[in-house]
Amino acid sequence: MNKVVKIAPSILSANFSNLGEEIEKLDSCGCDYVHIDVMDGHFVPNITIGPNVVNSIRGFTKKIFDVHLMIDPVKKFIPQFAKAGSDIITIHHEISENVFECIDLIKKHNIKAGISIKPATSSKEVKKYLDLVDLILVMTVEPGFGGQKFMLDQINKIKEIKEMVGSRKIDIEVDGGINEKTAKMVIDAGANVLVSGSTIFKHKDYKKVIEVLRTNESSNY
Ligand code: DX5
Ligand code: ZN
Repeated sequence: MNKVVKIAPSILSANFSNLGEEIEKLDSCGCDYVHIDVMDGHFVPNITIGPNVVNSIRGFTKKIFDVHLMIDPVKKFIPQFAKAGSDIITIHHEISENVFECIDLIKKHNIKAGISIKPATSSKEVKKYLDLVDLILVMTVEPGFGGQKFMLDQINKIKEIKEMVGSRKIDIEVDGGINEKTAKMVIDAGANVLVSGSTIFKHKDYKKVIEVLRTNESSNY
């Protein structure tokens, strides 16, 4: 078992009328990253939040803001998300813009850069970013909504990416359908950062769920 598993609750499933309090609660419950899903109704069929919201919740925690941009175009918004307090900005391989230029721009703001691939995208596509990124985000659902079913056929992709990454210091993050059961599967396949939205927020005891996802010592909660 990988001992350095990090848990990144996705605030997509949080109570948006009380976002500050939700973030404070996640912080005190031992999350590692706060995963922030940004959607534009174009790259994905849903709309969420923009840089103003990221900026307004920044003061509630010092934890890492892991910002997942599911938007296209993305380049012109990177400076705003960086200034709003992002620690990691992840963009998608499938965008219409030049991905290398976007990664470069993220790094110019002195923050970490991540690359994400959708379920239909092959692990081979990640190869060209290996020496540029700090994080690879494997989508295990079609991006756009929380609460979807984990796509089992993505497990092999996680293994292939783990192999490709080798000894590089790159986080392998998995996003979509992570619960007590699938957490173990993705950790075994090589993931070290687990995004989880609905599983965490449907429980009252965030601390316990976070622990269970991280350690897989489930039982009674
Ligand atoms: C989906 C988002 C995910 C989502 C995960 O496009 O990127 O971060 O919030 O939600 P769950 O954990 O409910 O699948
Ligand atoms: Zn996400």
